[in-house]
Amino acid sequence: MTQSSVLVTGACGEIGQALVQALAARGARVVTADLAPLPESIRALPVEHLQGDLVNRVKQFYDYDFDIIYHLAASLSAKAEIASEEAHRINVEGTMQLLMMSAYRAEKYSKPIKFIFPSSIAAYGMPNITAKKNAGRVKEDDWNTPHTMYGCNKLYCEKLGIYYGQFFGQKHLDANPPFMPDFRAIRFPGLISAFTVPSGGTSDYGPEMLHAAAQGKPYACFVRGDTKISFMAMPDAIKALLMLTDAPREKLSRQVYNIAAFAPSADEFRARALKAFPNADITFAPNPRRQGIVDSWPEDVDDSSARADWGWKPDYDEDKFFDEYFLPEIRRKYEI
Ligand code: SER
Repeated sequence: MTQSSVLVTGACGEIGQALVQALAARGARVVTADLAPLPESIRALPVEHLQGDLVNRVKQFYDYDFDIIYHLAASLSAKAEIASEEAHRINVEGTMQLLMMSAYRAEKYSKPIKFIFPSSIAAYGMPNITAKKNAGRVKEDDWNTPHTMYGCNKLYCEKLGIYYGQFFGQKHLDANPPFMPDFRAIRFPGLISAFTVPSGGTSDYGPEMLHAAAQGKPYACFVRGDTKISFMAMPDAIKALLMLTDAPREKLSRQVYNIAAFAPSADEFRARALKAFPNADITFAPNPRRQGIVDSWPEDVDDSSARADWGWKPDYDEDKFFDEYFLPEIRRKYEI
């Protein structure tokens, strides 16, 4: 990817910060965009930062010649339930504007711009706990009935990406069809970084609990102990984004892929935290709305398509995640 010109929206978020570091290390020319100024972790990198509202400022991006777009900017699941109209504007309108720009540039300059989109396990929706337990590891095309604004937005944006990538204006029917955006999406599980703490999401209880335990702060977990969804180490999430970016198009049998790593219950997270930090004070105080959201998400996902098509395999299972990534890094971070 050396010398590719790359746009990363939502660059100040958790995935954004880690991705921008990885892209800079690969030698890509990176333009970042976010509502916020760049955080400390990426401020010193040689990137050009465009600060401001994505939807209002998308015209600015037409002046750039991007090879790859990582469109990470989003309002996450918990926040989107509270401010649903705003979430729709950010999540759907922002994606639509960038897809239109990619389609315009792909056609005008005969160039297949890669459009990499982080979707989510929120795209799934199980009607109740029994269905969730019985479903096991769900495949991409099952249970596409999200219960949240965020999940609806993500699922619809996957469809929009496929539309702009294949069918926009029915141009695929032309004798010489023009270039279209090369849309690729990953449905991420809950992500855990040792360096940043998430906000506005529902899988946040995992990382919040672990960071609180490491800092010796009490934590009241907002879901029940038996709650189970899939999680992944942030370095694996970045690895997946880069692997999917690099995969030859002809190897990809689909546009949207599950990826998985490990799926502990909240009780298991607590046990891990107590083992590492015996004085951790972790209690459970379920919030019915947030509980409802995770109860609608699958316990785990089937990532066999990603494994078969682009060689996906996580580096961190649950043991390696704690022993080789999270605990050593978090001890350094909080100096314990
Ligand atoms: N981590 C996200 C959230 O909780 C799911 O994609 O909203």
